Amino acid sequence: MIGREIRRDDRITILSGAGISAESGVPTFRGEDGLWKGYDATQLATPEAFASDPEKVLEWYIWRRKMIADCSPNPAHEAIAALEDAGYDVAVITQNIDNLHRRSGSKTIVELHGNIFKLRCSGGCRGITQISETTAPEDVPRDCPTCGRLLRPHIVWFGEFLDPDDIVAAQHRLSNTDLLFIVGTSGVVHPAAGLGYIAKEAGAYVVEINIGYTPLSDMADVTLLGPAGQILPKIFAPLLKAQ
Ligand code: OAD
Repeated sequence: MIGREIRRDDRITILSGAGISAESGVPTFRGEDGLWKGYDATQLATPEAFASDPEKVLEWYIWRRKMIADCSPNPAHEAIAALEDAGYDVAVITQNIDNLHRRSGSKTIVELHGNIFKLRCSGGCRGITQISETTAPEDVPRDCPTCGRLLRPHIVWFGEFLDPDDIVAAQHRLSNTDLLFIVGTSGVVHPAAGLGYIAKEAGAYVVEINIGYTPLSDMADVTLLGPAGQILPKIFAPLLKAQ
């Protein structure tokens, strides 16, 4: 199906974007039902917005958290987690902040853009405050336990840099990958969009899964057009049966 056999000792990496969660009901960013539609995200998901109106930004994240908490992992997330669980060397590098890879059971994950269920001090104190899908809005901690300043979502906002540790971890994994699946990303937001080329240049076989072609399609060895929740289980399920 992908034009290459998947071997038991392949190092398999999944580079995922919002499209992998679309079938869970989480809106994508650039689709028809884009998450930002009706909201000026560039006004809200920025350090400047948080500095000028933190209440508004925090309220928006409470709304987004509730929307995501009401969604569940779909067969695409589950197929990836099952493959790792079966002992394959699988790593996920995701742009998604929705926690669905973790909820489906994946363990080896780099979250390039953070996680909406993590908070950190807006003043820069170290440490992460973890909440969950079941944390009630009124129970979301507001203040940093160290300095008392407001906590903010542990998310990369517009105009902010990715965590260098995450970039290094992603680059290292992609340089040491045999098989790369690029799933549900428009491939236009950097630096994430450029990460697939690292694997390609290091010799990986690259499979793109998307409902349409993207700027990454030319680089991929094969592009499989269709919903990730249908395609990924078809690729991985036979490997699990063969165990
Ligand atoms: P986009 O919304 O830009 O792209 C989603 C991609 O998923 C598109 O290429 C769709 O064709 C594809 N897609 C939609 N449904 C699909 C399905 N069921 N199966 C497979 N593919 C499907 O989302 P990202 O590429 O993730 O950054 O966007 C990257 C970043 O842009 C986000 O992480 C976010 C945003 O700015 C930050 O918030 C920092």
